[in-house]
Amino acid sequence: MPRIMVTGAAGQLGSALVNGLLARGEWDVVGVDNLLSGRKELVPANSNNYQFIQANCNNPLEISQVMLGHRFDYVFHYAAVVGVQRTLDDPISVLEDIRGFENILALCKNTRVSRVFFSSSSEVYGEPVEIPQREHQTPLNSRLPYAVVKNVGECYLRSFHQTYGLEYTVFRFFNTYGPNQSYDFVVPRFMINAIHGQDLTIYGDGSQSRTFCYVDDNVDACLNCMTQDLFVNDTLNVGSEKMFTIAQLAEIVIAEVNSTSKIQYVSALEEGDMKRRQPESSKMQQALGRDLLPLQGGIQRMLNDERFMKYASETAKRRGWT
Ligand SMILES: NC(=O)c1ccc[n+]([C@@H]2O[C@H](COP(=O)([O-])OP(=O)(O)OC[C@H]3O[C@@H](n4cnc5c(N)ncnc54)[C@H](O)[C@@H]3O)[C@@H](O)[C@H]2O)c1
Repeated sequence: MPRIMVTGAAGQLGSALVNGLLARGEWDVVGVDNLLSGRKELVPANSNNYQFIQANCNNPLEISQVMLGHRFDYVFHYAAVVGVQRTLDDPISVLEDIRGFENILALCKNTRVSRVFFSSSSEVYGEPVEIPQREHQTPLNSRLPYAVVKNVGECYLRSFHQTYGLEYTVFRFFNTYGPNQSYDFVVPRFMINAIHGQDLTIYGDGSQSRTFCYVDDNVDACLNCMTQDLFVNDTLNVGSEKMFTIAQLAEIVIAEVNSTSKIQYVSALEEGDMKRRQPESSKMQQALGRDLLPLQGGIQRMLNDERFMKYASETAKRRGWT
């Protein structure tokens, strides 16, 4: 069976991808994570075709032990320091992820990996100069360390392809939400607050808009890129085109949860809260091959997810609401 490595495998998207791969049962999968922001409980138990290895991609010794020991056919490099506040508070740790690109790509080249899939971000577009944002036309206006580092990662992939023929696909993920996302992120935060009757806090006037892609749509689109040989040596936006303001999101969450929570407006964040973002998503739609799940449907799936509801009540307890 072909072998696949997923880095960031204890994270929201990495763990969902691992589960998606295991559900199809056609590959041997190794998940790698240093548990910086990942959660061990998201990682499936080791089995005949799955193994979890705790290792740091930015440490050449640790990651080369994994990659030389297994010889992978495909690599999904999703490990990264994430979260707007975390990356603003500790920009140096974000820059260290560049070492991870060097390590992973050199090892992919030397072990003849067929294709590397890289989780870039809508943040590479920075403060938007045009809407919707197109993969090859929209200028990359990134300025913050996290966004600049993603841009550097994309540049590494193109350079390794040009020089060594290493094949790649860049996924520019737009806001992706789902039951395993942490409270740091807006959809679970609004939902957990709404479930417990707490105010939903909005920074600024709430007119900043976002798109929301349910995690299953992200996983299916990315897996199809691999299995159907789509977008080889190319970049695609992975996200939903449907825009909501943050104020609309708060109202939708309150309605879907059937909550009595109120919306509270506080001063805008100084940095990192882009006004608008919207992907041009024809490549995503081609990769997915079906309609994306509407926001209301995703919220309902989360409300029906046992692990999410448990996480919601643990979070409420930690915050002293229950
Ligand atoms: N979720 C989104 O909406 C979104 C949007 C844009 C881009 N992305 C990108 O997608 C990827 C996955 O994001 P996520 O939402 O699952 O985040 P996440 O924080 O849940 O997952 C990232 C994982 O990487 C691990 N990690 C961090 N540094 C590591 C290192 N040096 N070595 C090994 N493991 C390490 C963390 O422990 C964590 O489990 C990231 O690269 C992120 O930048 C996500």
